Amino acid sequence: MIVVTGATGHLGKLVVEGLLQKVPANEVVAAVRTPGKATELAVGGVQVRKAEYGDPVSLIAAFEGVDKVLLISGSEVGQRVAQHAAVVRAAKAAGVRHLVYTSILNADTTKMLMAADHKATEQVIRESGIPFTFLRNGWYTENYASTVAHAVEAGSFAGSATEGKLGGAPRVDYADAAVGVLTTEGHEGRTYELAADEPWSYVDFAAELSAATGKTITYQTVSAEQHQQILEDAGVPEGFAAILVDSDRGIDDGELASDTRDLSKLAGRPTTSLRESVARLLQS
Ligand SMILES: NC(=O)c1ccc[n+]([C@@H]2O[C@H](COP(=O)([O-])OP(=O)(O)OC[C@H]3O[C@@H](n4cnc5c(N)ncnc54)[C@H](OP(=O)(O)O)[C@@H]3O)[C@@H](O)[C@H]2O)c1
Repeated sequence: MIVVTGATGHLGKLVVEGLLQKVPANEVVAAVRTPGKATELAVGGVQVRKAEYGDPVSLIAAFEGVDKVLLISGSEVGQRVAQHAAVVRAAKAAGVRHLVYTSILNADTTKMLMAADHKATEQVIRESGIPFTFLRNGWYTENYASTVAHAVEAGSFAGSATEGKLGGAPRVDYADAAVGVLTTEGHEGRTYELAADEPWSYVDFAAELSAATGKTITYQTVSAEQHQQILEDAGVPEGFAAILVDSDRGIDDGELASDTRDLSKLAGRPTTSLRESVARLLQS
């Protein structure tokens, strides 16, 4: 049996859908913090089990009789390492044979602020002795949904990255890669750097956006300080704005790209092109 945690989240739902294309529904467990939100997941024999990262009892019950766990990293920054450690302890206690974790691209070398929790979680998992696979996810293109909405209206968007490229891909690509790992053999002890086959810059993004809309949309590079101010003026909390500014630095430093092609290899198809990602963002 395969458990997917965070199964009511955007990525988790896509992984469950992908698993159902490959394995019988009664081999899939959707582990969720709020079972009442998971009725649409409970189809054709998928079991829904309560799994709150802060509640070890629920975690041990959720992992009973399970071979593989996909731990989808939590969204409560500041609490995640302790929460993930509780999941790892429960997996160990339940005798889970393979723990797959959604980490961040280049977790061991990146300086990105966002990476600290992932790096710490990887360490906890290594120390647990449970056979593991790290799926070091790059940026989701869906992160740019509000940028697209604003840019189409304003004719431009701003950031503090210059010409750096990132290997951003839509969530479904990362979900398909996770399904690949969970449904085929030989991934224990492996770390995969997951990024789009063709990296792209914000200038490329503006060009695709212009082509798709028929409007001229430009990208303006601003200083880190100006970027922080623009984000705060738009209502982004100071701390999160700092993380976004830092991620633009990471883009320029190559921390959000990888030439391994692990993402397309695991997904079993090329990654989604920037053109297609932009088209989907415009439709959403
Ligand atoms: N690579 C990127 O660009 C990027 C961007 C954003 C986030 N991320 C990371 O990737 C993860 C998955 O992304 P996503 O888009 O699917 O995020 P999401 O839609 O926010 O899903 C996060 C999932 O984690 C669950 N969760 C949070 N805290 C929990 C807790 N204490 N106990 C149990 N479950 C908990 C949420 O449960 P509920 O459904 O009940 O809320 C939700 O199902 C995020 O959580 C974050 O760590 C990556």
